[in-house]
Amino acid sequence: MKVLILPDAAAATDRAASVLIDELRARPASVLGLATGGTMEPLYERLRASHREGLSFAQATTFNLDEYVGLGPDHPRSYHAYMREKLFDQVDIDPSRAHLPRGDTADPHAEAAAYEDAIGRAGGIDLQLLGLGANGHIGFNEPMSSLASPTRIKTLTRSTRDANRRFFEGAEPVPRFAITMGIGTILRARACVLLATGAGKAGAAARMIEGPVSAACPASALQMHPRATVMLDRAAAAELELRSYYEHVHPDGRGRDVV
Ligand code: F6R
Repeated sequence: MKVLILPDAAAATDRAASVLIDELRARPASVLGLATGGTMEPLYERLRASHREGLSFAQATTFNLDEYVGLGPDHPRSYHAYMREKLFDQVDIDPSRAHLPRGDTADPHAEAAAYEDAIGRAGGIDLQLLGLGANGHIGFNEPMSSLASPTRIKTLTRSTRDANRRFFEGAEPVPRFAITMGIGTILRARACVLLATGAGKAGAAARMIEGPVSAACPASALQMHPRATVMLDRAAAAELELRSYYEHVHPDGRGRDVV
């Protein structure tokens, strides 16, 4: 696992965005795995800016990590809506190749299985973008998720629902279940880039990088991935025991061929 510590959140976000931009420039028909959440908002801003400067998504295929069970694509808090607003409606991606699981299906289990199959039929994910939950989740793989899990339904923890309440208005409840790519699905991606910023992620980042590989911290499974790069700002890196070593190896997060 490569650990890049950038001076601040903007620099960490730039670094993660540049990996996606370089991937699309080198291989325009890449299959990208995408994430949502607050951390990714400025990253999508950078991708939109890059598109205005000529970057094309026209040949790319994307698969998002997750969607809330019960929310249809037109629900304003759905991840479908998030992705349309932050990226898809503002770049030249072919909507038929921009995939998210449907949260409003009558049979979410069948939807999850079909989503896993669709990833396989697309040839697998070339580059998977990930955020990090304060409880160590990736996608919506909550603690004690199987490290070999496929796309399936997960019950969200109270802490995740509390953390995501800020995206829901007033009395509208945060959904209790999500369809999420599994940890096994994520580990099959050919490369992973995880972006975590802010002091709220420092404990989870330390457990992910330096803790034991354990379902108790789903992100620690990335220690088993041959091409995983973690990009942190200094606040998110604050609890790393070997922080000065990572900074010595990659001063200011520099380094060639980061994924
Ligand atoms: C969402 C996802 C989640 C988030 C994580 C961090 O698609 O995959 O794992 O990345 O919950 O969310 P923020 O960035 O809002 O702290």
